Amino acid sequence: MFIFSTDIDGTIYDSLETATHFAEFWEALTTGSEQEGKLIFNTGRSIGDTLGLLSEVPLPQPDFIIGGVGTEIYSCEQSEKIDDWESYLVGDGWEADGVSSLVERLIPDIEAQPPECNTNVKRSWFWNDRDLADIAQLEKSLSDEGIVAQVVYSSQRDLDILPRRANKGNALHWLCDRLDFGHAKIIVAGDSGNDLSMFGHADVHGIVVANASAELQAIDFKTTGHFLAQAPCAYGVVEGLRHFLTPSIVA
Ligand code: GLC
Ligand code: MG
Repeated sequence: MFIFSTDIDGTIYDSLETATHFAEFWEALTTGSEQEGKLIFNTGRSIGDTLGLLSEVPLPQPDFIIGGVGTEIYSCEQSEKIDDWESYLVGDGWEADGVSSLVERLIPDIEAQPPECNTNVKRSWFWNDRDLADIAQLEKSLSDEGIVAQVVYSSQRDLDILPRRANKGNALHWLCDRLDFGHAKIIVAGDSGNDLSMFGHADVHGIVVANASAELQAIDFKTTGHFLAQAPCAYGVVEGLRHFLTPSIVA
């Protein structure tokens, strides 16, 4: 069995055409194949927003959705959220309102993302054109104030502050442990900063699409064995899946 955990926006979907391209490939890959493939969408979108998108675009039905940058996990088979994950996240000194008031005091002109992007396990803002030093300074200010949290910055725009135990990579590994998928081959794909945590875990095979932002392009592909595709979005994902799966599995 293999597990494919993929970001959605900019990675397998930016238009009907790319969604269709991924869906057709996935269908061919998993139909009649000896090896079962589990599909996990791992996105910054909330679960509700993702389910809405899936009802509108021709992406395949996943087995699980990890939403809100690794803060929510949803089982598609059960049609329900796995609440244990959120309990685990908040059991680590996380305080959403404390995070919000501190960030807004430190950066008074920062623009909050819309209410649906802010939950009790994720606080998000638009904070344009910041560099690594700005992010490090913010992390230091949070920690100096005793705030237990992690900062994720993506696409030179999106600032997410999450419980320390959250993020896309940690959620993926928590889910795989829970499902006893320890021996499965894990392949991940992404295009921006909030995907980076999926690439850091041992024994993960990562696909970076050609349109990826600088945070992912900076990966050391030689040492890590991750794959930088030549093609953008779903076309690059297909290239990567062909690279990592043995010819007998690839249709
Ligand atoms: C998605 C989310 C947003 C988040 C961004 C980057 O766009 O909706 O809240 O900031 O991903 O993680
Ligand atoms: Mg993306």
